[in-house]
Amino acid sequence: MKVLVVGNGGREHALGWTLLQSPNVEQVICTPGNGGTATLHNCLNLSIAVDDFAGIAQAVAEYQISLVVVGPEVPLSLGIVDYLRERQIAVFGPTQSGAKIESSKSWAKEIMTQAKVPTAKSQTFTDAETAQVYIQSVGAPIVVKADGLAAGKGVIVATTIEEAIAAVAELLENSGKLIIEEFLTGSEVSVLAVTDGLTIRPLSPAQDHKRIGEKDTGKNTGGMGAYSPVPLVTEELSLRIEQEILQPTLKALQQQGIDYRGVLYAGLMITPAGEPKVIEFNCRFGDPETQVVLPLLKTPLDEILLACVEQRLAQLPPLQWKSGSAVCVVAAAGGYPDAYQKGKAIAGILEAEQKGAIVFQAGTKLHQAEILTDGGRVLGITAVGDTFAEAVAIAYAAMESIEFEAMYYRRDIGHKYR
Ligand SMILES: Nc1ncnc2c1ncn2[C@@H]1O[C@H](COP(=O)(O)OP(=O)(O)O)[C@@H](O)[C@H]1O
Ligand SMILES: [Mg+2]
Repeated sequence: MKVLVVGNGGREHALGWTLLQSPNVEQVICTPGNGGTATLHNCLNLSIAVDDFAGIAQAVAEYQISLVVVGPEVPLSLGIVDYLRERQIAVFGPTQSGAKIESSKSWAKEIMTQAKVPTAKSQTFTDAETAQVYIQSVGAPIVVKADGLAAGKGVIVATTIEEAIAAVAELLENSGKLIIEEFLTGSEVSVLAVTDGLTIRPLSPAQDHKRIGEKDTGKNTGGMGAYSPVPLVTEELSLRIEQEILQPTLKALQQQGIDYRGVLYAGLMITPAGEPKVIEFNCRFGDPETQVVLPLLKTPLDEILLACVEQRLAQLPPLQWKSGSAVCVVAAAGGYPDAYQKGKAIAGILEAEQKGAIVFQAGTKLHQAEILTDGGRVLGITAVGDTFAEAVAIAYAAMESIEFEAMYYRRDIGHKYR
C-alpha cells in the first residue's frame, strides 16, 4: 500500500520511516515533507501545504493512496479529517470536533470534568478583571493558559501574582479566552494512545524535555529531546492511566457524539504522591515523543493505524515492543526558540547514522543535493539501545558527527531517568 503523511516535522519523518519498515508499505508520500523525507528511500515529497485539503485529496487520487496519516494539530483542528472522510478517503486522525480536545483547553477541561479525570483545578475567563480577582484570591504560583492553539507559546507558569496578571493581559489580547489553573508539581510524562473511537491502547510512555536550557531552565520549546520507556510509569501506573484517564476520556468523547479515530495524547504530571494528573490532551502524535516511541514498536505501524481507521482495534493482537530504550536529542538552530537563522549547510548525517543512530530531520530542506537548516528544531538524533545508558551513549556519540553553523543541543537529555 501507499500512505500519505501530512506535515513536515521530525514526527512526520519518523512516521514515514516507521511505515516504510513495514512489509505492507511500498511508498510514502509526504505533503509537504522536509529534507529527511525527501531523501528517505521510497518516500516522495509533494509541495502541498497542510491546509490545502483539496490538493491533498487530489494527491490521494493521483497516487492511489490507501491511507492518510495527519501529523500536526493545525490541519486537524481545521477539519482535514472531516473533509477527507466525506470523500471516502481512509484517514488516521480525529475529526474537527475531536481535535477540539487540543484546540480548546477550556473544552478539554469540560470533558475531563464530565469524565471525572484527575486534572489541575481550573476556571475559564473572558475578561481581565474577573481573572485578576481570581488570581488575587488564590495566589501564586499559578498557571495561565490561552484557550486556543498557540504553537507552544500560550502557557505561562507564573511564580508571582504580578507575573500572572501580566500573563492575563498578554494572553487575553491574543486569544480572547483563557483558563487559569492550579500549579502542579511532580514529573511530566507523555502517554500517547491510539484509538478507533471504541477501544483505546496506550503506546510506550515517553518523557519530553520542554525547556531550551540544561537542567530544565530557560524558555519553553517544542521539545529538546525525549526518551522511552519511562521507568516512573510502572505497569501498575500504566494500568491506572488507562483506566482512570484514557478510557473515561474516550467515553466522554463518545457521549458528545464524537467519532475519534487517531492519537489521544495525554500530557501528565505524576505528582510526588504518585497520582497521574492531566496537564493537557493533544489530538496527534507528539514531537519529539514520536521519534522515540515508534523506533521501539515491533508491530507494523500501518496495521495499527488501519485498525483504528476501520474500527477493529479490539481485534488487533497486543502491540509488540522491542526491549531496551530509545533516546532522541534535538539539534536546534542557535537562538531558538527566539529568532534564529535558516539555510545553513548540515554536515555529518551519514557519519552519525554509521555510528548506529537514526537521524530524523525536522526543520530541514533538500536544496541542490544538500541538506540545509530550515527551522528552529533541525534534527532529532535518535538511538535505540539494549539499555537506556547505551541509547544515550549512541545518540551523543552520533551528535559529535553533526555540524552546522550555530548548532545547539542539550547535553543532559534523560537527566531525570529513574
Ligand atoms: N498546572 C500546571 N502545573 C505546572 N506546570 C504546568 C501546568 N500546566 C502546564 N504546565 C507546564 O507548561 C507546559 C505547557 O503547558 P501545556 O498545557 O502542555 O500547553 P501547550 O503544550 O499547549 O503549550 C507543560 O508542559 C508544563 O511544563
Ligand atoms: Mg503541552
